[in-house]
Amino acid sequence: MFDTLLYDKQDGIAWITLNRPDLLNAINMRMRDELWDVVQAVRDDPEVLVVIFKGAGERAFSAGADISEFGTAPSYVESRRARRQRDLWGLMLSLEKPLIAAIHGYALGAGIELPMCCDLRIASEDARLGLPEVSLGYIPSAGGTQTLPRHVPPGVAMHMILTGDPIDAGTALRHGLVQRVVPRERLYQEAESLARTLMSRGPLALRLAKRAVLEGLDLPLAEGLALERRLAARALAV
Ligand code: COA
Repeated sequence: MFDTLLYDKQDGIAWITLNRPDLLNAINMRMRDELWDVVQAVRDDPEVLVVIFKGAGERAFSAGADISEFGTAPSYVESRRARRQRDLWGLMLSLEKPLIAAIHGYALGAGIELPMCCDLRIASEDARLGLPEVSLGYIPSAGGTQTLPRHVPPGVAMHMILTGDPIDAGTALRHGLVQRVVPRERLYQEAESLARTLMSRGPLALRLAKRAVLEGLDLPLAEGLALERRLAARALAV
């Protein structure tokens, strides 16, 4: 049982719902800790084949880190140590299973940084996505300065990060930040249908292809091609 999340597992799909709807699903320390636990649980559960993240309520996937906790960590050193020990975003990026984010309403700060650690993002037409940290005097710190330019052209990422202004779902689709935009009432149906498509593909092939893309992004082309050759040989070996 979680305080800040809902968890549901059905037919190979794990649904993880950020569940503080009155506060637009702001990610507080408790939610971060619970995400750390649940992501490890889905990683280790052989019945889970695909994971879908979503937000509770009508208004937001998540309005980002809980602003009311800013400055309340025991100490700067302590909070940095906690982050290093429980690197939630690194954990998500290391998962071999496909992760999908189903995004509606506000997806701001960590509320878009979490989906950027997923493999695929579907948004509903009402989604507003952005990294507003600079307007609060911070910079994104859940990976956004690094993940956003890997999803959208660097100039678009720079514009979003330096202005802090959110973009709408259509703009996010045009720049490739989300892969599909659907009417709000179809969002979870479409996410589930995408999950089922993935589950119909070979699980080993999915795992190896995901790894080839993610690891390859950090490599020079020649090394990326060598990685692909190795992984392709592994797919053929079974
Ligand atoms: N942390 C903590 N609480 C938050 C929050 C956050 N990131 N985002 C929203 N909330 C809370 C509000 O304080 C409010 O709580 P209350 O009803 O107890 O007063 C509730 O969620 C509803 O938000 P509200 O601001 O009243 O809604 P709105 O429609 O006027 O504005 C936003 C919506 C998203 C524009 C606005 O809430 C906002 O700017 N939030 C902060 C976004 C942000 O900067 N996130 C990045 C943090 S690094």
